[in-house]
Amino acid sequence: MTRTRATIGIDVGTSAVKGLLVATDGRVLASAFRDYPLLTPAPGWTEQDPEAWWQATVAVLRELAGHDAELVGLGLAGQMHGSVFLDGQDQVIRPALLWNDGRTGQQVLQIERTVGRERLIEITGNAASAGMQAPKILWLRDHEPDAYARLAKVLLPKDFVRLRLTGEYVADAADASGTLLFDLAARSWSEELLAALDIPPAWLPDVVESPDHAGNLTDEAARATGLPAGLPVAAGAGDNAGAALGAGVVRPGQGVLSIGTSGTIFVHADQAMRDPNGALNGFCAAVPGGWHLMGVILAAGGALRWYRDAVAFDERRQAGQDNKDVYDLLLAEAAEIEPGADGLFFLPYLSGERSPHMDAAARGAWIGLTLSHDRRHMVRALLEGVGFAFRDCLVRMRAEGASFDELVAVGGGAKSPAWRQMLADQLGLPLVVPAAEEGPAMGGAILASVAGGVHPDVEHAVAAMIRPPAKRTEPDPERAARYAALHEHYAALYPALRGLSVS
Ligand code: XUL
Repeated sequence: MTRTRATIGIDVGTSAVKGLLVATDGRVLASAFRDYPLLTPAPGWTEQDPEAWWQATVAVLRELAGHDAELVGLGLAGQMHGSVFLDGQDQVIRPALLWNDGRTGQQVLQIERTVGRERLIEITGNAASAGMQAPKILWLRDHEPDAYARLAKVLLPKDFVRLRLTGEYVADAADASGTLLFDLAARSWSEELLAALDIPPAWLPDVVESPDHAGNLTDEAARATGLPAGLPVAAGAGDNAGAALGAGVVRPGQGVLSIGTSGTIFVHADQAMRDPNGALNGFCAAVPGGWHLMGVILAAGGALRWYRDAVAFDERRQAGQDNKDVYDLLLAEAAEIEPGADGLFFLPYLSGERSPHMDAAARGAWIGLTLSHDRRHMVRALLEGVGFAFRDCLVRMRAEGASFDELVAVGGGAKSPAWRQMLADQLGLPLVVPAAEEGPAMGGAILASVAGGVHPDVEHAVAAMIRPPAKRTEPDPERAARYAALHEHYAALYPALRGLSVS
């Protein structure tokens, strides 16, 4: 009997390493998972021990190696933006600073002063923000000079795992484009930025494209993991770019709408895209010659969860009594009210806002309350507020030339048909739900199938491994037109309130 040919995809996430063993026709044969702690040594600081990522990866790979399959490749995806600081002997100098670490405010200002905000966005596709790698390197220089003096290499999280697997210093363009040191259009390190920030190019890994064969499993890593020595390892991608492949997004016009605690919306393009205001992120895609433009709203599903916990006491009691899902009850209440919630709006800025306002001090609000409104209007307005916040990003993306045919809806919020319909109407776009949602690790497995020589390129690999979407939600033309007009009102509210919140 012939053994099933398969690849392994690894996602080095913020809470865990997830591994998938995937047949080259896309069937998931096995998965494994090992978590690790998030270290928060001071308010606003987030760190992880790269050794913990490695140990978790080894455990996941050992588990997957126990399944019978003919392995042809391994691919990596992972949390973006973090910094692993290594000395000349590849020893970790200090715990890694992560994407959601906020300690580098001063260094962000320094970078903007040195390079100029406009020029920075022009080169990298991104405004400076605390999570990215460049300000982290400057923070080490400013605050831990002894550690800085030992610095020989700076790697992104998954690329540290790659070093242990293959002995190679390599990054892919998709993940590297989140460092703030990368030339988005040229898909290479920016000599101008490295010179301006005094960062030696030798500290950075070589950059290749995501599906490239970027090393082989060493004998030592093979002994540790139980996988075959010499196994080809794909360059891989940052988690958003990796998850996009798993969602089947490989061509212009396609995008992803993710409704988790926070929400992201991004579109694939065949040219480098950037927002001159710096309110959106421009990144390289895992498809060579592809790019993403991405917006992040901080409270999507998180706004509804807040409402459930802080306001919806009756619904929670009712759901408990009837053994129902409280979210279904809330969505049913909202469905009793017409689009527009009879003039009631909600601003979902419960934790400030990232795209497009970039305002940590922005605050949530219901606006337009009258005696005729009740809790059904309040929950309808809240859901619509999240949709309008996404639409704000969409409008900004279109202004930069992005075009959308459809969005693949993923995350917990996308599972509700009622909310999906509301979002399709509010965005005026069809939403499709993937047949299976495996996240970034699937992207790693897809890229591994190209690096391992099974599929000729990413597009073919996705066509062979990802099943067509399971469901499609079309916008209703009448409601879509109504929402387009209502969004004009919504969009006027934040500017009127900006700066008024009491901190
Ligand atoms: C992307 C970002 C996050 C991390 C989380 O810009 O900050 O999605 O990649 O893993």
